[in-house]
Amino acid sequence: MSMLDICVLPGDGIGPEVTDEAVRVLDWFVAKRGVQLRMTRHLFGAASWAAQGTTMPEATWDAIMRADALLFGAVGSLDQTHIPPEERRKGALLRMRKALDVFANVRPVRAWAPLAESSPFKARTVAGADLVFVRELTAGVYFGTPRGIETQADGTRRGVNTHTYTEAEIARAARFAFELARTRRNHVTSVDKANVMEAGRLWRDVVTEVHRADFADVTLEHMLADNCALQLGRTPTRFDVIVTDNLFGDLLSDCAGAINGSLGMLPSAALSAPGPDGRRRALYEPIHGSAPDIAGKGIANPLGAILSAALLLRWTAGRPEEADRLENAVEAALAAGARTADIALPGEAVLGTRAMADAVLAAL
Ligand code: NAI
Ligand code: MG
Repeated sequence: MSMLDICVLPGDGIGPEVTDEAVRVLDWFVAKRGVQLRMTRHLFGAASWAAQGTTMPEATWDAIMRADALLFGAVGSLDQTHIPPEERRKGALLRMRKALDVFANVRPVRAWAPLAESSPFKARTVAGADLVFVRELTAGVYFGTPRGIETQADGTRRGVNTHTYTEAEIARAARFAFELARTRRNHVTSVDKANVMEAGRLWRDVVTEVHRADFADVTLEHMLADNCALQLGRTPTRFDVIVTDNLFGDLLSDCAGAINGSLGMLPSAALSAPGPDGRRRALYEPIHGSAPDIAGKGIANPLGAILSAALLLRWTAGRPEEADRLENAVEAALAAGARTADIALPGEAVLGTRAMADAVLAAL
């Protein structure tokens, strides 16, 4: 495979801290395992607003559109009110996801055996949990129109968002999930609120139709989103692939973060349909945000970002054996006792961001 051009967007808060470590780990694969990546860093968001007076410099947007894949940290700062709304929209992650058409957001969640005691759930509840969300990422209530805050005739305000899904948007997410299930344990749970939402009713109908037409070999169950939130804590081992809409996928994957005790453990890959060359556009990022409460302290858990780099090796670089090698190294580092503060038990020795990545590199 030829040299891949990776656009690195560290962003705000802990974004740069964890992205630096993911890049350092990928550098190891370039140096030692012959993975052909060229990584280039670009400025955007609040940091770029401060430096250049725009949240999305043209050079960054060009690099995003040209790249084979993006490695992304996080956006968002506590106070962005000083940035004009149109500039905030320009630098927004949602705009990037939409422009790249990365509709399938793959969010794997596994209970790491060495962390069984760090989980707020009982070890016997989470042991062996290994599931993956396919969150629809480019439609639904985050994108629907009309939207906005309007002033009503009586002078009071009304906030409006619109939850919409077309048949085509649902069908492509469903197909992606069924195909992924075939590479795993052949089970899909489709999550919606078909009982109270029209787009949810259509979601259930279309997933059922796609299943009947082309994926009858895969087991399909339907589940209401509120029950899914409960089952993720109660019996996370019952899930294989969970396909759901943009909003529920956002919330439920954070719920699943509790399986290991921290959001800092969870990676993601946002993927488009394959292009004419058979390759998917891809945006890799930890699922957490900019974590302003711990930013700048060098204590953030870099494993979500590092495991996102493993997804890049798997989906973009086409090197699944190297992705396995990296995931095994994360497990070995955890088994050797490496812990950042978010996954440590009281009294356990704690590593900073860089030292945790060093533990992974040592295992490699
Ligand atoms: P958050 O995900 O940034 O943090 C939630 C909690 O988890 C915090 O207590 C944080 O300290 C902890 N946490 C997150 N990542 C961690 C890590 N790697 N290591 C250790 N602890 C970690 O969500 P929050 O606080 O609700 O939002 C903060 C900002 O991030 C907001 O501006 C929000 O809009 C933005 N955000 C951005 C996302 C993105 O860029 N994809 C996703 C989610 C939120
Ligand atoms: Mg979220």
